[in-house]
Amino acid sequence: MIVNTELEQKGNLFPSRILHFRKDVDTFYFTAENDVVLQLRIVRDSVMRFRYTTTGTFENDFSYAITKYASTGYNHLEIDEDKEKYIITTSKLICHISKENMRVQLYDAIDKTLINEDELGFHWEESYEFGGNVVKMSKTVNERESYFGLGDKPDHLNLKGKRFQNWATDSYAYGKSTDPIYKAIPFYTGLHHNKAYGIFFDNTFRSYFDFALERRNVTSFWAQGGEMNYYFIYGPEMQTVVEKYTDLTGKPHQLPPLWALGFHQCKWSYYPESNVKEITQKFRDLRIPCDAIYLDIDYMEGFRCFTWNKEHFPDPKRMVKELADNGFKTVAIIDPGIKIDKEYSVFKEALDKDYFCKRADGPYMKGKVWPGECYFPDFTKPEVRDWWSGLFKELIEDIGIQGVWNDMNEPAVMEVPNKTFPDDVRHDYDGNPCSHRKAHNVYGMQMARATYQGLKKFNYPKRPFVITRSAYSGTQRYTSTWTGDNVATWEHLWIANVQAQRMAMSGFSFVGSDIGGFAEQPQGELFTRWIQLGIFHPFCRVHSSGDHGDQEPWAFDEDVTDVVRKFVELRYQLLPYLYTAFWNLVEHGTPLLKSLVMFDQEDNQTHYRTDEFIFGDKILVCPIQEPNAKGRRMYIPRGQWYNYWTDELVEGGKEKWVDAEIDSMPLFVLEGAIIPKFPVQQYVDEKQIDEVTLDIYYKEGKERSQLFDDAHDGYDYTKGRYSLRTFKLTGKSNELIIQQHKEGKYITTYKNFKLNIHGLPFKAKVVQLDNVIVPTSELVTDENGLMIVDKDFSEIHIIG
Ligand code: NOJ
Repeated sequence: MIVNTELEQKGNLFPSRILHFRKDVDTFYFTAENDVVLQLRIVRDSVMRFRYTTTGTFENDFSYAITKYASTGYNHLEIDEDKEKYIITTSKLICHISKENMRVQLYDAIDKTLINEDELGFHWEESYEFGGNVVKMSKTVNERESYFGLGDKPDHLNLKGKRFQNWATDSYAYGKSTDPIYKAIPFYTGLHHNKAYGIFFDNTFRSYFDFALERRNVTSFWAQGGEMNYYFIYGPEMQTVVEKYTDLTGKPHQLPPLWALGFHQCKWSYYPESNVKEITQKFRDLRIPCDAIYLDIDYMEGFRCFTWNKEHFPDPKRMVKELADNGFKTVAIIDPGIKIDKEYSVFKEALDKDYFCKRADGPYMKGKVWPGECYFPDFTKPEVRDWWSGLFKELIEDIGIQGVWNDMNEPAVMEVPNKTFPDDVRHDYDGNPCSHRKAHNVYGMQMARATYQGLKKFNYPKRPFVITRSAYSGTQRYTSTWTGDNVATWEHLWIANVQAQRMAMSGFSFVGSDIGGFAEQPQGELFTRWIQLGIFHPFCRVHSSGDHGDQEPWAFDEDVTDVVRKFVELRYQLLPYLYTAFWNLVEHGTPLLKSLVMFDQEDNQTHYRTDEFIFGDKILVCPIQEPNAKGRRMYIPRGQWYNYWTDELVEGGKEKWVDAEIDSMPLFVLEGAIIPKFPVQQYVDEKQIDEVTLDIYYKEGKERSQLFDDAHDGYDYTKGRYSLRTFKLTGKSNELIIQQHKEGKYITTYKNFKLNIHGLPFKAKVVQLDNVIVPTSELVTDENGLMIVDKDFSEIHIIG
């Protein structure tokens, strides 16, 4: 039976009504004989939401994951029925719902291919212990179907044949098969017959995903409470699926300040002040670019958040200012546990205002973390988040801290078997009171959100920068993240690589690992190889636990320092390229890293690759993940690629040996690409950028590239003060044409482009600049003969 929205009453169900279909209605209800109700909402042509209840009543519709800015609306919606089924058709999808058993089938509306279908579909088990249901959904596995996504799982990129759990967990020194770890992102992408779709199971309870492990032809997901509530997102391109998921759960609310994309140095812990100064100065002395220095928990007084150990840091404001004068932004850690101490103002205030989490029967939730016994704010309460954000006033506005790092927010509790709060702890959940079973997976997210609010307010008009360890879907709106306490082993280098790619395909691109490994100590070679990978991760930070020796770029031998410098310099050169990719993430939800399967899903060879990935949209990266390597075999995706180091053009679509001594790594650029580069700086905006180099990679054919720029901080870009340049490259056998289209009101500091053309198959005889022929002898060039042109050119022809 089917009921439409017109007949819907608050939470109540009308079990049998005649269908009155109205064009402006996007929500439908279906019931079957067993009294289960399916609510189907057409979010947009390619996104449908499926929600089930067994009681006739739906829960209050509240989600931390879904953003209010999500796109909604459809171009086409039609509903029909025949004897067996209801048929809902949009411009992208056709959904069949069986009248007999409510099983769902989803088809591509254009070519009618079956994309996804229920096996048993929705089923459930009553939960005697907690009430409610364990809610389950099972889907049929398609021929040669692959699965991707699910956040930070340290496992093979392709999830097929595996089972995972989502329950945010502090996981010191986790390994390749550890599950779950810090994050809970219940979103995956399925791919078969060159069509990709996504399923986002928006349920914050402990959830499970079984990708054809238990039964070869079934993929299922279930949660220990709440509703079966999932979004079906159709691509058919994998990248589109991720973009639409990101649209639904939110893009980063703003660009990061550009310095946040620089190199960061961290350790547990740099103290006292003299040590911080020594480390930062050493970067400058050795001329290794670096933008941020981190203060781990030892900067505090007895690990009390929002306090300073005055013995080690007598005048934090002065120190932060001096560091800033030297180009360093200071980032400080803040944990959720508040020390039980009647003399401590943060504790007192939260106690007075009743902001701490309590057990079901009334006592406070008490747990041990670094400061000893703590209470924990209930970040799922808006009032608590407001209060928390206010605590940052001194740290940010007065002292000048530029970024905050939220740790231990799974939440982690020491010396207890489950490493977190007991299930019975109560939470506000934004006015939907519940137990920790439901709030656990969003606790870290809501903490990071409150921190973000504080930074946004007190750092204004500069942009906020937050890092979080724990996350649920949607956390990417507020913060960056890192992959937690990894280990200094080669296997962990592999793990860091897949985790960053997986996070990007789970809608959370601003990610990095503890470069070099948090636990134990890397050899110089491992550290070097990890730096090489790390500079291609959106968040690029060295961090270590500090108890196994030093991990600064100079802590190994001199060769290591030199190679690290070379790669960090490359990162700084590529900043405009990365920043442009970030702009595309903020605007369109386009992931910053693309696994090969996302880059070319049509090519089956990519479906089981893990090591190679695309940084931005044009640079192919493949880390060396073994000791003593002089190179490696890797898969070059289809197309023609320039070896970044030698300019050799290679044909993709096959595996290839690539040389990579310790001072190199496999790196390729897509032919036709135009890669913008800044000059090397010791930190972002050390110097005014007067000239941008465009590395132009000749291609016979066409290719499009972009360059975004703005003030590198602040919000002016949101008011049109940005500069977006789109380059169209057209290569012919004896001509190379570059056209430029400009957008935005920002006047860039650079005035010229320096053109560095790679692979030009002919000798340039004539150059035509905006329709004026310039004899090659009259061209303005630099000392290396590279052509310099006005940044506002419209069209350049290089003719052979
Ligand atoms: C655990 C975090 O994962 C790590 O990065 C940090 O250094 C320590 N806590 C100490 O704060």
